[in-house]
Order: sequence, then C-alpha cells, then structure tokens
Amino acid sequence: MNISIIGTGYVGLVTGACFAELGHTVICVDIDPEKIQKINNQIAPIYERGLEQLLKIHKDKISATTDNYSALINTDVTFLCVGTPSRKDGSLEISYLEEATKEISSILKQKQTWHLVVVKSTVLPGTTQDIVLPLLEQHTRKKVGIDIGLAMNPEFLKEGVAIQDFLEPDRIVIGFYDERSRTTLRELYKDFSCPILETSLSAAEMIKYASNTFLATKISFINEIGNMCKKLGIDTYDVAEGMGLDKRIGRAFLNSGIGWGGSCFPKDVDALIAWAKEIKQPSRIIEQTKAVNIDQPHKLIKILQKHLPRLEGKTIGILGLSFKPDTDDIRESRAIPIIKELLKSNARIKAYDPKAMKNFKKLFPTIEYCHKATDVLCSDAVLITTKWKEFTTLNYEGKLVIDGRRIIQAKNAKIYEGVCW
Ligand SMILES: NC(=O)c1ccc[n+]([C@@H]2O[C@H](COP(=O)([O-])OP(=O)(O)OC[C@H]3O[C@@H](n4cnc5c(N)ncnc54)[C@H](O)[C@@H]3O)[C@@H](O)[C@H]2O)c1
Repeated sequence: MNISIIGTGYVGLVTGACFAELGHTVICVDIDPEKIQKINNQIAPIYERGLEQLLKIHKDKISATTDNYSALINTDVTFLCVGTPSRKDGSLEISYLEEATKEISSILKQKQTWHLVVVKSTVLPGTTQDIVLPLLEQHTRKKVGIDIGLAMNPEFLKEGVAIQDFLEPDRIVIGFYDERSRTTLRELYKDFSCPILETSLSAAEMIKYASNTFLATKISFINEIGNMCKKLGIDTYDVAEGMGLDKRIGRAFLNSGIGWGGSCFPKDVDALIAWAKEIKQPSRIIEQTKAVNIDQPHKLIKILQKHLPRLEGKTIGILGLSFKPDTDDIRESRAIPIIKELLKSNARIKAYDPKAMKNFKKLFPTIEYCHKATDVLCSDAVLITTKWKEFTTLNYEGKLVIDGRRIIQAKNAKIYEGVCW
C-alpha cells in the first residue's frame, strides 16, 4: 500500500519505517523542517535503536516532506501520529490533531478515490467519532463511511524497543467506523501473528488509556510496597519475584524505584483524571497512582540527606537523565524533580547520560555535563536515576551511592542504599 504518516515523532517515524520494512511505500509529513531534512538524509531525528538503519535500508520506500500535505493524495491510507500533549490543567491538547485533520481534509477534498484515515495518536474516548469525523466531513464535504474511511488504531510501542514492539506487538487493536476501514486495516496487518482485536472507535481509544494507566498503577503500587519494605529491611525485589510468579499478577512493571516518566504515562494519567472529572466519574485509584509517583523521586534525596545532611556546596553526581534507558527522551524524566530539588538546596550538579544530555541541556543549561560516566563518580555522592546498562560496568568502590534504579553492581560502593531496598 501507499501510506502517508502525519507527524514523524517517536510513533510516526517508527510506524513509517516499519511499514517500509513490511514492503509498503511511505511518505512522512511533519511541520518541523529540520526533522524532514534529516529523514530525507536517512538520519533519525530521535535516538531509537534500529531506526536509522531502517531509514537507510528503505531509502527508496520512505520520503519526507513539509509540503502542505499534498503528497498524501497519492496514498491509500493516512496515519495521524501527531502529538497530543497535556494542557496545564492535565486535560488533553488536541489542537495538533485538529489542525492535521483540517490539513489532510483540504487534500482529501480533491481526491477522487476512497481514502482511509487512521488516528494513531493517543486520544480520549469519543475524540475520533466526535471531533475527527465531523472535521473531516466539514472540510472535505464528503461522507465518512462512504467516501472516506475512519479507524482508530492505538499504538503500544515502548521507546527504546519501539521497532521490535511495532513489528512484534502483543496485540493490534483496530477500532473502526465502517466495514471497508476494518478490512483495509486487516489487510495492512495481515502478516502479523499476534491477536488482532476489532472494536468500536471509542473502545480502541479507551484500551490505550486503560492499558497505560494500569501499567503506571502497577509501578506506583510496587513503589508503595517498596517504601514499606525499605522501612522493614525487606528487599522489595524479592517480594516482586514472589508476586510475579503468580500468573494472575505477572512480573513485568514490578520494578520498584523512583517512579515512571516519559511522554505517555504522565500525560495519559493526567488526561484520564481530567476527563473523569469532566464526565463526573471518580478516578480515585488513578489519582493516587499519580500522587505516589510525584513523591517517589524525592525519597532518593531524603535517603541522600541521611548521609549528607547539608547539600549546599556539595557536588552531587547524577547518572541518567532520560526517562528510561535506550532513549534520548527526557519528557517527565524522574531526574527533573530530583535535580530541581538539589538546585534549590544549592548543591552542585554533575550529570551524565549516554544519549539524553543534548535534550536535557535545553531544560537545565547551567548544570555541569560530563563526557564520561566515570567523571560523575568524582562527586560527594552519586544518584542513579536511569537504568542504563553502561552504569552496571562502573567501579563504585569508595563512593557514596544512592540508587533509584537497582543497579546492583553499585553495591560495592563504600555506602550504598537503594530507594526501596
Ligand atoms: N512516544 C511514545 O512512546 C508513544 C507510544 C504510544 C503512543 N504515543 C502517542 O502517539 C502520539 C505521538 O507521540 P510522539 O511521542 O510520537 O510525539 P512527538 O512529539 O515525538 O511527535 C509528534 C510530531 O508531530 C508533529 N506535528 C505536530 N503537528 C503537526 C501537524 N499539524 N502536521 C504534521 N506534523 C505535526 C511534530 O512536529 C512532531 O514531530 C501521541 O498521542 C502519544 O501519546 C506515543
């Protein structure tokens, strides 16, 4: 098929590169000319393992443009993958999606043949049906369900292993408005061996929110248990192993630490809480999931202050700035509230991250960034904030290390404490 992708961020570009890998021709559209130029030069604008390689291998199948969306007239399917960030009050900002829908409509208006529009961005239940559909009809003067197909196909990839997740997902969810959209997406995903679930548009939207919120809840839950374990001298990871062997529970997402961040969990949790308020439904569990996560990074500093009561003038080394390993994404990274609190206490910060320093510098231009992880070790104390594999190979002997991510090799430090163990 000929596929157009609107929005070439983590989801859009991975989706495009993977569809090219599956044999399709892909055109990527974005409003950011720098990204477009990089993609056309086969350079990945984000760090994601294997992505640049796919851009290079499939350079004849992938092209990118900022050119007023006109390129999508020659495609059969358009995936809307633009960002849906949080507003200040936590509710979902869908203006990029609305803009992109209007832009594609101006092209679809001129198209003579049927075209499928697929919402891949994470949106609240009802958005595809109540916002995207009327915008499409209003701006194309065509009928959705007859001239234009509409579907909602949430994305579940994890940054860091996004290519693998896209190509070998646990499941594919197809929310569809009309039969032709359903069969077209079935055809597109025909080579995937995972279960494919067909639902209504809003069930597909809700599956994404319920999944992310549940995973965030699992982490906050084990962190709460972890905080209790820490007080009692119990190793939370032993507890997680014991729980995880129960098939009803499962071991994944039971790694206690300093909490969850990233571009998805925080904004999805916020959006669901804001939406629940709007529809006058309580969201008590989800609110507490968030509250536990706000407190958790500060526990690391509390433990640090047991050993260094006055932080003023002390040099604190930070190992890890990305919100998780194998990505350069720093959105809602747990290192952010930790560094903010340390700066408030007038500590000096020395930080290192294998991939995320360039992004982090935009937020914290004045802290010291080190070229090597070992430079960070020359500090009064070291905090481990991201579980990069590289940090398992360091020699922590003689150091004061407070670990937020369970790098057990750091146990050879002079003083070692984990946040929940
Ligand atoms: N990042 C993830 O791990 C992940 C996983 C699953 C789902 N999602 C969801 O997918 C969506 C995209 O997330 P992301 O992380 O890829 O976002 P991102 O911010 O990395 O990328 C969004 C892209 O959309 C572009 N854009 C904005 N408005 C546009 C327009 N009118 N036309 C063309 N391009 C436009 C931006 O320039 C940007 O490149 C969000 O709804 C997110 O919640 C993200």
